[in-house]
Amino acid sequence: MKPAPGLSRHFLQIKDLRAEEFSYLFERTRIIKSRFKNYERYQPLVDRTLAMIFEKASTRTRVSFEAGMYQMGGSVVHLTTGDTHLGRAEPVEDTARVISRMCDLVMIRTYEQAKIERFAAHSRVPVINGLTNEYHPCQILADIFTFIEHRGSIQGKTVAWVGDGNNMANTWLQAAEVLGFTVHISTPGGYEVDPAVAGIADRSCYRVFDHPMQACEGAHLVTTDVWTSMGYEAQNEERRKAFVDWCVDDEMMAVAQGDALFMHCLPAHRGEEVTAEVLDGPQSVVWDEAENRMHVQKALMEYLLLGRIG
Ligand code: CP
Ligand code: NVA
Repeated sequence: MKPAPGLSRHFLQIKDLRAEEFSYLFERTRIIKSRFKNYERYQPLVDRTLAMIFEKASTRTRVSFEAGMYQMGGSVVHLTTGDTHLGRAEPVEDTARVISRMCDLVMIRTYEQAKIERFAAHSRVPVINGLTNEYHPCQILADIFTFIEHRGSIQGKTVAWVGDGNNMANTWLQAAEVLGFTVHISTPGGYEVDPAVAGIADRSCYRVFDHPMQACEGAHLVTTDVWTSMGYEAQNEERRKAFVDWCVDDEMMAVAQGDALFMHCLPAHRGEEVTAEVLDGPQSVVWDEAENRMHVQKALMEYLLLGRIG
């Protein structure tokens, strides 16, 4: 019998886990990734089922969760709004009650954070945020693991965010507060981050700059994202005009640290938020970042379902 609602740990935003739990997850990720690279079978989730609910498009999130779950011996059920009763107004609370009696873990990509919070409140099993309008915590988990792989601890470092004050920016701010680094953020006017939406208590974890070059100065990592996130397509044209100076290029990378990394959660639009030279250049680690989605999420699913190993 699965536990009653309220007893499961969820991963709906970065601050659902403590710094010490992130250290544990990054160490597990390193071990799980190394086993994968060495073709060593590791199947602790046999007979476990992950339900994945997508209300928005995805390439990386779907493949990384699905491949990761199969590699760990489990199975997945893939659902979209159009092929479930979620698209026909069945309450999210009822959907949560039903799915969580049949599956062991749920990943959801949706619009409002409030919806995933409502789902989690009525779920008997752990719920993972696979992206909402407000947050993208699995991506930041992968990004920080990628930083650690290339450069060591992110504590005390500076991350430059160039572009929209969106779900990725919010999640970077929460991670900065939990893990002790600083975000230098530059957005066009009208697209700033809102600390209340980002869910941070301490504003000292970030600094705002009018010009993206200033945000990049001395940064250990420069990162950006699309100008128009999923769900905001109606604003496409006005955003194209507003964001034209927020394109990460060689000049911005040149004022960052000499060994600064470039990251992008993908999908990317070369010539819009980043030049092809930077995205495909030597400082870019975007393909490692994408691959690491799978490894960190395997560690996360293991942790939420089995607790600490060893
Ligand atoms: N970065 C990311 O979440 O990619 P998808 O939208 O392809 O899942
Ligand atoms: N900010 C983007 C991220 C896509 C992975 C979006 O929400 O569409």
